[in-house]
Amino acid sequence: MQFSKPHISKLRIESLQVCLDKAKSIIQTEIERRGHSFHMEEKAGPLFVEMDPDKIVQVLVNLFKNAIEAMHEVGEIHISTYDIKDHAAIEVSDNGPGIPESIMDKLFNPFFTTKPSGTGLGLAISQKIVQDHGGRIGGSINEAGLSNFAFRTVSLRGYSKPLSGDSFVHYQ
Ligand SMILES: Nc1ncnc2c1ncn2[C@@H]1O[C@H](COP(=O)(O)OP(=O)(O)OP(=O)(O)O)[C@@H](O)[C@H]1O
Ligand SMILES: [Mg+2]
Repeated sequence: MQFSKPHISKLRIESLQVCLDKAKSIIQTEIERRGHSFHMEEKAGPLFVEMDPDKIVQVLVNLFKNAIEAMHEVGEIHISTYDIKDHAAIEVSDNGPGIPESIMDKLFNPFFTTKPSGTGLGLAISQKIVQDHGGRIGGSINEAGLSNFAFRTVSLRGYSKPLSGDSFVHYQ
């Protein structure tokens, strides 16, 4: 496993919504099998980001998988999109039991896992991918509800807005 090499290779401008839809469809069967559902809240318009789309899908799938694995009872995965200055952000939260304070600073360590069959690489790889996009990823307990918690996830530099036709303007 190489953590130093950049995890991004095919940079292009892509819609974050397209990545979200792809990641959701990859995990959809598992969501339905367990009786969970997705809940989308778009606090931003269409977000276009300079990215390696497959890698961003991989980050989202990792977060969705963690959410599913955390929810032992039927629950919801909430996805919110934000447009913060020149960054696009996605927040993924679930109403599982939450993240214990004691492991908060270990979440992104390679091989850190609390699961019997986990590798502990999901978040470490996700962090590397997000950092290679100039972004940041973090885990937190959500203020919104007692048992809710959220991962504030992708903040991507190079976010672009469509003007008209095929032209884009870059905000750095
Ligand atoms: N949504 C979540 N709710 C509660 N705890 C979480 C959540 N996401 C991650 N964690 C905690 O962070 C640890 C590390 O997560 P990470 O995705 O890196 O590895 P993993 O899920 O254990 O294994 P892998 O991703 O390789 O299957 C988890 O073992 C779990 O303790
Ligand atoms: Mg995981």
